[in-house]
Order: sequence, then structure tokens, then C-alpha cells
Amino acid sequence: MKIAILSGSVYGTAEEVARHARGLLEAAGFEARHDPRFTLETLEAFAPDALLAVTATTGMGELPDNLLPLYHALRDRVPDWRGRPGAVIALGDASYGDTFCGGGEQMRELFGELGLREVLPMLRLDASETVTPEADAEPWLAELAGLLRD
Ligand SMILES: Cc1cc2nc3c(=O)[nH]c(=O)nc-3n(C[C@H](O)[C@H](O)[C@H](O)COP(=O)(O)O)c2cc1C
Repeated sequence: MKIAILSGSVYGTAEEVARHARGLLEAAGFEARHDPRFTLETLEAFAPDALLAVTATTGMGELPDNLLPLYHALRDRVPDWRGRPGAVIALGDASYGDTFCGGGEQMRELFGELGLREVLPMLRLDASETVTPEADAEPWLAELAGLLRD
């Protein structure tokens, strides 16, 4: 099974988590590709069986700039990936209040619009609570690997 890992990051934390996820999913036997610069074309060429988005939140609940072109291309062109598994890891900071993990929420909504099947509730990693997001994501990623294998 091929898993595409999209990432949105300003300072690099989400990208590190995405890289870590790729390593764990590969170790679990999947063909995982992480590319912070995926375009709709390179994503369609990879032909993913499942999608994982790992994204930070910036501004007031916004997606990082590096993910915006792909986000808009997916919304505009709506590739037919209906029914394929999708999951989201959101990085944020609870001290931002209402916009906590807003970027992840936007990816979650987009995955819903594409008809992806949410196999696991979105993971929220709170920078005000933890400085080890990669390690904190491990149990969730192990669960994801198990669900994708079924
Ligand atoms: C300018 C700025 C704005 C932010 N806005 C939000 C926000 O609206 N909601 C949220 O949950 N986190 C917000 N954050 C926190 C980041 O999403 C969080 O620190 C994340 O771990 C950063 O990941 P990155 O290193 O991949 O950019 C903001 C951080 C900065 C520096």
C-alpha cells in the first residue's frame, strides 16, 4: 500500500513529524513517500492508496504557506480518491484558543470534501504541552499502521 505524506510547516516541526511518520510507516511495511513540495501532479503520479497530512497552524488558524498551493489545487480539481483512507496530524498551540490546530482542521475538511475515509480521529499535538511531538505521535501512528493493514 502506498501512503502519501503531505506536510505544512513554518519552522520545521511538522516536517520533522512527517519525516518520522514516513520512517515508522516504512518500517511497518508500507511504501510511504513524504514530500513537503508535493504538487497535485506529483501526487497523482505517485497514485497514493492512502493519504496522511501533517500540518502546523500559523497566523490565526491558517495553513502554512508551503501547503497552500496543494490545498487549493486539491479543492479546485478534486481528484477521485473517494473511499481511500485519510488521516491528519495537527500541530498547534492551545494558547491560541479558538484557532487551536486550525490548519489541521482545514486539511480534515478538505479530506472530507475529497471523500477520503477518516480512519482515525485527528491527532492534535500541542506545543504548549510537549517538546517531543515526534515521540508523542508514535502510538497514534502505530494505530494508523494497524488500521491500514486491515
Ligand atoms: C506566528 C504564529 C502563529 C501561530 N498560530 C497558531 C494558531 O492560530 N493556532 C494554533 O493552534 N497554533 C498556532 N501556532 C503554533 C504552531 O502551529 C506550533 O508551534 C507548531 O508546532 C509549529 O510547527 P512548525 O515548526 O512546523 O511551523 C502559531 C505559531 C506562530 C509562530
